[in-house]
Amino acid sequence: MRRPRNAAAVPVAGLALALALTGCGSDDSAAATGSRPELEVTGAYMPAPVTDTMAAGFFTVTNSGGTDTLTSVTSDLSDDVTLHSTKGGAMEEEKSFAIPADGTLAFSSGGNHLMFEKLTHRPREGEKVSLTLHFARTGTVKVSMPVKSATYNPKTGH
Ligand code: CU
Repeated sequence: MRRPRNAAAVPVAGLALALALTGCGSDDSAAATGSRPELEVTGAYMPAPVTDTMAAGFFTVTNSGGTDTLTSVTSDLSDDVTLHSTKGGAMEEEKSFAIPADGTLAFSSGGNHLMFEKLTHRPREGEKVSLTLHFARTGTVKVSMPVKSATYNPKTGH
């Protein structure tokens, strides 16, 4: 009885073809994950570090397109920039951060943050630190991160 196997193979091939055609189709009909990410980075700041050994950085990535992933951050300030999350009050290093389709990825005080170690110098308030964000799909995005006061709060602006 070979016939049932052959019969089953036909719909599978047809499905694969349909998927391939959808993949080449218009952006509008594609699932959000398949469309191009449209990233915007806003609200970047670094609280002025009190030593030259470590600094933190915050920003928000707003995405009006398909999914992307923040894979790493590089900077002139440090060869050792890592991505951290905060879970239950303890921070954890993360390999990457997913950016949802039509969503945001927020780095904020008490939550996700960049950690700069072994600083080339201690940045002062008013300085700008240049960063390059590396995304899996978008590629690189350059960000100028202003150094604010050590106690800066983006909600109050002080
Ligand atoms: Cu940390």
